[in-house]
Amino acid sequence: MKLLHASKKSSSNSIAEPALTPVQRAAFERNLRLWYEQNARALPWRGIRNPYRTWLSEVMLQQTRVNAVLEHYERFLRRFPTIISLALAPEDEVLAQWSGLGYYRRARMLHRTAKLVVEEYGGELPSTSVGLRRLPGIGAYTAAAIASIAFGESIAVVDGNVERVLLRVLGLPETSGAKMAEFLERTANSLTPRRNAGDHNQAMMELGATICTPRSPRCAECPVFGLCRTRGEHPTLERSPMRSERVRYALTTRRRVDGLDVLLQRRSAKASLMANMLELPQLSTQKSAGELVLLEEPLLRVRHSIVGTNYYVEVVGIATRRDAAKHALRSDGLEWVRVTKLAELPLTGLARKVLRRMKLMKLPSGLPQQEVPLLIGRGGRGATGKKA
Ligand code: ADE
Repeated sequence: MKLLHASKKSSSNSIAEPALTPVQRAAFERNLRLWYEQNARALPWRGIRNPYRTWLSEVMLQQTRVNAVLEHYERFLRRFPTIISLALAPEDEVLAQWSGLGYYRRARMLHRTAKLVVEEYGGELPSTSVGLRRLPGIGAYTAAAIASIAFGESIAVVDGNVERVLLRVLGLPETSGAKMAEFLERTANSLTPRRNAGDHNQAMMELGATICTPRSPRCAECPVFGLCRTRGEHPTLERSPMRSERVRYALTTRRRVDGLDVLLQRRSAKASLMANMLELPQLSTQKSAGELVLLEEPLLRVRHSIVGTNYYVEVVGIATRRDAAKHALRSDGLEWVRVTKLAELPLTGLARKVLRRMKLMKLPSGLPQQEVPLLIGRGGRGATGKKA
């Protein structure tokens, strides 16, 4: 089938709109639906009609891989099964359940909005995209996803995957800007059926995530291959490269008669990222940081990526709180935390990763905590084998 290019340009916009005919739109919708029925991944937020669960899954899925969400979604719901239970929880507990998913602003906003829904909406989310958009933190994408998936409203959900599918089908290169976004939203809406819009939207996102991928799309398996003008990768905008940064953290422990403590530091309430969350004390990477830090071989090296930056992380064992404080970037906010309590605390994703790798914290699969945990601080032999 051939795509028609509309001859007239939209008055306000320089994109010559390539349109699909009604017959092509019907074929697109049908082929996609049949493909989705056969190929949809069984994900726990599918096949349900529960606005709170849909809301949670869509917020978690923003900028986050499905596998990472799978690890958190059900655990979060066990702890906060309803909007009311979420609204009543202290923020630290919400952040603790979110730890590892990143972009913690999402968790704070979800929590804030849950409180508002309980206080002003009787604990029920509005049932239309227009009503949902009035809530703080719920934008066009999330409102359309909840309204279509949980309430059956016929409205398109347009995320990055859907944009890519549409651009390729229509044979367009990627361009930025509001005009293109509006055009893609109109196009997506013209393809959205009146019934089962929620499944259609999930099918569009699924197609982008599993077949029409950014690199090496699997065109031979694509249900809309016959309608596609690109059939492969399309020209995209240049991405800004990831920055690299070296960072160093202290791991300091102390043994108590009844257990082991690890030294953590609370991030500033004014930090632009991960405010108020707990991490290992960060050390200076400057040469002047002192012999102690420079002479220690790291206990662990990890790479951690957040928001456009690859962090090359070294974790250095430091024997005492005093030495850790001496070399830390900041001297405030240091706290001893019992290792058995770590899972309940709002740890940064990196802190959680390090504490798990050092076997100070349980893995999510429920693997048992190591019987004799590593000891770096006073009271025994450290991981380096030196007397601390
Ligand atoms: N990405 C975000 N939400 C999704 C959903 N509900 N189905 C498939 N992919 C998604």
